[in-house]
Amino acid sequence: MSYLISSQQNYEKYVASAEWKQPLPLLAIESSCDETAASVVIGGRSVASMAVHTQIPVHRLYGGVVPEIASRSHTERIGSVVREALYAAGIELDDVGAIAATSSPGLIGALLVGVSFGKALAFSKQLPFLGVNHIEGHIAANYLTYPDLEPPFVCLIASGGHSHIVKVLDYDCFELVGRTRDDAAGEAFDKVARALGLCYPGGPEIERLAANGDAGAFPFHAPFNESDSYDFSFSGIKTAVVNLMHNAEQKGMRINGADVAASFQRAVVDTLTRKSVRAAKEFGFDTLALAGGVSANGALRRNMQMECERNGLRFCCPDMKFCTDNAAMIGCQAHYRLIKGYRDGMDLNPSAMSFLAE
Ligand code: KG4
Ligand code: ZN
Repeated sequence: MSYLISSQQNYEKYVASAEWKQPLPLLAIESSCDETAASVVIGGRSVASMAVHTQIPVHRLYGGVVPEIASRSHTERIGSVVREALYAAGIELDDVGAIAATSSPGLIGALLVGVSFGKALAFSKQLPFLGVNHIEGHIAANYLTYPDLEPPFVCLIASGGHSHIVKVLDYDCFELVGRTRDDAAGEAFDKVARALGLCYPGGPEIERLAANGDAGAFPFHAPFNESDSYDFSFSGIKTAVVNLMHNAEQKGMRINGADVAASFQRAVVDTLTRKSVRAAKEFGFDTLALAGGVSANGALRRNMQMECERNGLRFCCPDMKFCTDNAAMIGCQAHYRLIKGYRDGMDLNPSAMSFLAE
């Protein structure tokens, strides 16, 4: 009970500090998948520090993320990553005004580590605590990159777990327009990379290989993606690549991997771009933003920029350091939700599945 009373006072202090334009630092934690990350964010858009411990080299040995290894690694690293974020921001825990952690969606054991750690810190310092939706965090990465960007806009989120077209109506109000019917875009990159004998995560590897390939060599396409629906389907394209590689192997034929990578990348990039530009235009928005790990892909960024220019839309995409999982984007989204009145109690449980916070 005493926690609730003093955390309420500290919550009011946090919100008032934002109103006075002297915001208190917010400590954010991200542990939904294979990065243990912490960041200090001030006033939503100013990133005072970003600390990340990536588990990629360990998971690479297994060709993908092993959930149990991820949870253990988060547990081992979270303390030092949070300490590093505070140190790099030049502050101590006593200077922090609020604490946030990714609470959904993601690997449940991994989310539990960040949420439990965040709640424990908040409880010990009597600070307000907030769980943040990871996808909302990815969208918020754009606010960190464009100081003037505010809702409303349309956002394409393409990550390892999601491919969504979303109307961002306010900082806390979203409308899902389209989603993948099967594999997420990043998942398709990862699976195609494996078929080509490349390392995890496959997206950057495919992009590297595609740079020397002919994107017109193999016309991969999924008929579903030509429909009027805003939903995506990537598993057909992925299967076409896998079948091509298997057939070639059985016949002892050599296939140019760079051409396959470039053709696959073009198919995914064209589909993502076409549907999201159409959504922005048809729903009458003037801005289209990109988010999620796949937003680091140069071909996608260039293609979307070009198509937005052609269609009179403003195009936004996060700075490269905010594309893949990080805690700064969680801190940004947490700030906007906190000042709108959202808070969580010590009873908050992470959830593996939820899409965008209601
Ligand atoms: O957002 P993220 O870091 O984690 C999730 O929330 O899933 O996204 C990771 C995904 C992986 O599938 C990875 O292969 C993909 O983003 N990715 C890329 C690139 N960099 C990361 N895909 C295509 N091109 C890239 N350069
Ligand atoms: Zn992510």
